[in-house]
Amino acid sequence: MNHLHYKLSGAMFIIVLLLGAAFYLIDRYSIRLYHEELSQRLNASLAMYVVNAGPLIRDGEVDRGALEELSNRAMVINPTAEIYLLTPNGEILGHALPPDDVIADRVDVSSIRKLIDGSAPLPVKGVDPRNPGSRKVFSAFPVTDPIRPDDIAGYLYVVLGGSQYEAIAEEVSGSDRQRMITAGILLLVLAAFGAGALLFSYLTRRLRQLTGEVSGFTAGRFDTGSPVAAADEPRDEIDQLRNACHYMATTIQQQLATLQEDDRLRRELVTNISHDLRTPLASMQGYIETLIIKDDALDAGTRAQYLETARKHATHLARLIQDLFELAMLDSRRVTPQFEQFSLPELIHDVVQEFELQARESDVALEVDPPDAVVSVFADISLIQRVLENLVGNALKYTPAGGKVSISVQRSAAAVGVSVADTGPGIPQEALPHIFDRFYKADPKGVHGKGSMGLGLAIARRILELHSGEISVVSEERQGTRFHFDLPLQARAA
Ligand SMILES: Nc1ncnc2c1ncn2[C@@H]1O[C@H](COP(=O)(O)OP(=O)(O)O)[C@@H](O)[C@H]1O
Ligand SMILES: [Mg+2]
Repeated sequence: MNHLHYKLSGAMFIIVLLLGAAFYLIDRYSIRLYHEELSQRLNASLAMYVVNAGPLIRDGEVDRGALEELSNRAMVINPTAEIYLLTPNGEILGHALPPDDVIADRVDVSSIRKLIDGSAPLPVKGVDPRNPGSRKVFSAFPVTDPIRPDDIAGYLYVVLGGSQYEAIAEEVSGSDRQRMITAGILLLVLAAFGAGALLFSYLTRRLRQLTGEVSGFTAGRFDTGSPVAAADEPRDEIDQLRNACHYMATTIQQQLATLQEDDRLRRELVTNISHDLRTPLASMQGYIETLIIKDDALDAGTRAQYLETARKHATHLARLIQDLFELAMLDSRRVTPQFEQFSLPELIHDVVQEFELQARESDVALEVDPPDAVVSVFADISLIQRVLENLVGNALKYTPAGGKVSISVQRSAAAVGVSVADTGPGIPQEALPHIFDRFYKADPKGVHGKGSMGLGLAIARRILELHSGEISVVSEERQGTRFHFDLPLQARAA
């Protein structure tokens, strides 16, 4: 059921009906005003004609015969006219109507004066002596006594639209014109209502459709792409609503996908961890068990060798766990970099010292370029040390004997670029986009893949992210690999 449609149509119907009724009443009222003004203007000089047609007052007395005769003549001109002769104060001196019909014996002269001196807008209404409760338009003219022509002896007062007018007006209201207007208004009301109902039905149909799509979505149909199609060019609020729903649906889907991906990664993590930790643990366990079981059968040299192997595995295991822990900490944002200004060449020197022995043992040259740079950077010194250790460690691990690993520093206007390059085997092109992913090893079964977890570069990238920077790599197979990142020279202005 489309309730909104009915509500809107109902409201529309009431509004249109009220408008129609108002229009009808305004028409009735204005037509009446119009007729009254018209009648007053047309008959403005009626009273003057009557007064000028002959003396009505002779020797201070009303000439009733003349008044009657002039009344009859005036009624020929305008059958609705009713003529009264008034004193200057508005008392009725005489008239030519049946005596019982006239109820009032005086009328209000102020409206007569207003009409004569033109000080009020037409129509001006005055008392109807035959019906004192109602006011009618009239014509009036001052009457003078020929003996004293300067003084106003009274007024000739002509009520227009007297009782006759009422009768005619009654008839007219049932006339064709009125019927046409009434029918016209009714027709307009119906047409407006019909158009409105159609429009509402159209608009609410789109809303209804949208509701259908959205409710499908809330019922859990997430997987089939956004159920709400976006409007290409929003024409109105409904389209905007549609687009908002589309956007919402897409966002929910993306978040759902992210959640699913996170979930997948978490499972993978557990698998990876258990696999990578099990191997060294198992070897360690094996050596120790052998030591216990064959304690007497082993000579001192073999025993020492077994113990040493077990210790190596333990160290390795500890390192793996340390890496895991470190990445987890970095990811959980519980680590906030402790920014400080420090000398980069000094840090590089420390890292080189750390790896010097390993480099000599594997016959790889370890160089710093330029060897005597003086530059200080603004970063977390221990985190940047981890990055350098991971990069140099990788470079030494993958570079064969006779190769070279170089750490270079390039200073530019705003930053210091650090590169770690080697002459190793390089990284396959298809592996490049993944090497910074956690647990990714380009060559998992190779000699180097063993005993590593693929976390070093993930940690390095995460650390540089915390420094609002990024790490990049260029690698050419059989030529070597170069990792690069930038560090800020100074604290960034907030
Ligand atoms: N200097 C390098 N030369 C060649 N391959 C590299 C180099 N550095 C990293 N890689 C590749 O990237 C992978 C990911 O490196 P990393 O995250 O440090 O993991 P791990 O060193 O534990 O394998 C490595 O397994 C290796 O395949
Ligand atoms: Mg590594």
